Amino acid sequence: MSNVSLNEKIPNNVSLSSDKRLQRALEQWQPEFISWWKEMGPDGFQAKDVYLRTAISVDPKGWAHFDYVKMPDYRWGIFLADAVPNRTIGFGDDFGKPAWQEVPGEHRNTLRRLIVTQGDTEPASVEQQRRLGQTCPSLYDLRNLFQVNVEEGRHLWAMVYLLHSYFGRDGREEAEALLQRRSGDSDKPRILGAFNEPCTDWLSFFMFTTFTDRDGKYQLLALAESGFDPLSRTCRFMLTEEAHHMFVGETGVGRIIQRTADLMRQGKDPRKEGAIDLPLMQRYLNFWYTVSLDLFGSEISTNAANFFGAGIKGRAKEETYADHVASEGAYEMDVYEDGQLVRREIPLRSAMNEVLRDAYVEDCQKAVNRWNKHLAGVDFQFTLPSRRFHRAQGMFAGKTFTPDGREITATEYEARHDDWLPSAADRAYVQSLMVNPVYTPGHYANWIAPPPRGINDQAIDFEYVRYNEG
Ligand SMILES: [Fe+2]
Ligand SMILES: [Fe+2]
Repeated sequence: MSNVSLNEKIPNNVSLSSDKRLQRALEQWQPEFISWWKEMGPDGFQAKDVYLRTAISVDPKGWAHFDYVKMPDYRWGIFLADAVPNRTIGFGDDFGKPAWQEVPGEHRNTLRRLIVTQGDTEPASVEQQRRLGQTCPSLYDLRNLFQVNVEEGRHLWAMVYLLHSYFGRDGREEAEALLQRRSGDSDKPRILGAFNEPCTDWLSFFMFTTFTDRDGKYQLLALAESGFDPLSRTCRFMLTEEAHHMFVGETGVGRIIQRTADLMRQGKDPRKEGAIDLPLMQRYLNFWYTVSLDLFGSEISTNAANFFGAGIKGRAKEETYADHVASEGAYEMDVYEDGQLVRREIPLRSAMNEVLRDAYVEDCQKAVNRWNKHLAGVDFQFTLPSRRFHRAQGMFAGKTFTPDGREITATEYEARHDDWLPSAADRAYVQSLMVNPVYTPGHYANWIAPPPRGINDQAIDFEYVRYNEG
């Protein structure tokens, strides 16, 4: 195959045509990926033309190329951010030494595990969202969903590229397994909890892209610091795509709030008008935020300390910290001693999951503050629950707390469950609003405000998905 046609099939900036072994491996994996996409990707829309951006190179003009594409023909490419000349390891015991261009033998298993765990989330989210097209609130939103989906597919390619290039036979086997696990499947589930939760309505989708994709952003920021340079470079490019996913989520929720707040300002009851009431949205927020908090792992973690010490996984924006070795610092947190929470100093390296979670929480709070701006004149504010509430990982797992962080009995918690987390009735109500999808250009479902502007300077009534043709 010539360079041109290879680049047509698998756009890349990793000189794929000069590495025949890798090229063959990826050409073998590609049809398996496509059959996974056809089986588990967006249901019912594979033959439609969708107005998508495709990355065809990493320079600012090439990576945001917009055109109509049928999703199975999307060019899932492999792009690494430009190399930083003479890059050195930015943290840990090897601080200041040259970054690794190959996998160091002693870190091979750890790096493979991290790459597989990150890679597994990408197809998982496509699987979780595969039926949402049938209930979409507009063609604009439908297109945004598909943009997120194809880019998660590309993120899978990014991780598979690393596995094939640097991890030999084990890497090839892991790449296959990434196409075999299934979100929510009890026999072969995806690796992380939040990626097995059903995401079957658009409020969940927008909360997921706000909170769970934002976990992805923070994991990518931490891995972008890695001493393993190919991982760092691929994560840096993925972050540019991730930003759009959080835009989709945050503005999606924002538009639902805006619609509800508009009705309330007119003195109307949102439920009677077929909109989504604010307390119900708070319950969805509580759910998706807390399952996303779990993704950061235990508050005190030997693994996290080892990843940091070894130069494998850093802190988000490591350059903003003064001490990059962190072998002596301490981090104050609440820990259990004899059943009581007490404030203690923990060695900083052991608290790296919590340090990353702090940065995430702060970023989530900013999103919530922007949502609250839609509520002028309405007596309601969205809040982030305590990070102890509804946790399944770490020291608060198995205990019961109120959303403001007070420990209560399991009986009390059960009695209040439906005040704090989506109930079966909430889910049924949300589903009932979305029975009739909106496929007419410029029309928007009754429960969501139209966006202030379209994608890529197009109008909001642009035909983002050619739904009615062909
Ligand atoms: Fe992703
Ligand atoms: Fe994402």
